[in-house]
Amino acid sequence: MKTITVTASKTYEVMIGPDLLASAGALASELVKGLSAAIVTDDIVGPLYRERLAASLKKAGFRVVSFVVRHGEASKNAENYFALLNFLAEERFTRGDTVFALGGGVVGDLSGFAASTYMRGLRLVQLPTTLLAAVDSSVGGKTAIDLIAGKNLAGTFYQPDLVLCDTSALATLPGEILTDGVAEVIKYGVLADEALFHMLKDPVMPRLEEIIARCVAIKRDIVQRDETETGPRKLLNFGHTVGHAVEALSNYAISHGRAVAVGMAVVARASSKKGLCTQDTAEQIVNLIGSFDLPTATEYSAARLAGAALHDKKRSGGSITLVVPEAIGRCVLRETPVSALEEFIGLGL
Ligand code: GLY
Repeated sequence: MKTITVTASKTYEVMIGPDLLASAGALASELVKGLSAAIVTDDIVGPLYRERLAASLKKAGFRVVSFVVRHGEASKNAENYFALLNFLAEERFTRGDTVFALGGGVVGDLSGFAASTYMRGLRLVQLPTTLLAAVDSSVGGKTAIDLIAGKNLAGTFYQPDLVLCDTSALATLPGEILTDGVAEVIKYGVLADEALFHMLKDPVMPRLEEIIARCVAIKRDIVQRDETETGPRKLLNFGHTVGHAVEALSNYAISHGRAVAVGMAVVARASSKKGLCTQDTAEQIVNLIGSFDLPTATEYSAARLAGAALHDKKRSGGSITLVVPEAIGRCVLRETPVSALEEFIGLGL
């Protein structure tokens, strides 16, 4: 097992290893003293792992209740958010009690937002069951729901009290869901870890624990420098400006990981054409993405992608912050005039 300590507005541990769901009760009861535990999960993950988690929590003395949403991005909505708040109130949760978010990014973000706002803050334990949630959304404290106008438009920064990443649960993920998470892992390699980038040329599963730990350590270092994304945390958005545009234009039919894969490939090619990185760097990025059967191209035009990207909340004033690879393991932030975005994207298509 690997443990990474995050020191932000809260200090907490991210534990990564096999069979952690079975010891979740004992581990959580060392930290959280409340008596009640709400397991929030979805209708796919729940039947697989909810009983195991509930048994472990009950053994540690928690009263356990469960709130189950339908799987998929559409569940990260205001209706489920209010339903969860009302559920916690009906179950008489108070501040010392704990929400256990068992699932992928949708469950984690929704649970985190409810935990951060119910009575101005409950305890929160994240138990990611997808690779994407393990390396990204379960760590760093971003919580959110989607509004009609766009994704993640209502949310908070609210660090969890504990993150338990059970690699045995990840080992049974369908290939497509695992590959989606690999896109975010590639992101970390390009951002800050050349060795991780090259490690991905070998099979991922035998080194899953180490790979997740390396990603979490990179995210930890960035979040500790900039918890609320005023500067360096924007680096975590490598591939996301175009990626979010692809997701939105496809009406979310294209998954987050696949959209980010396209975004990273587009930015890598555009950066090499602009002389911001070598052609070899861009080719290495595009080839690694393609080697996982992740997409590296899109049918959407530069004009449509730029238009959709500028609707994204990460735009500020007359410029947009792009994350540009300089080399494998090193990216920089570049303020780009809004008027130059379409041309930049066009170079990468
Ligand atoms: N998902 C990017 C971040 O947590 O900042």
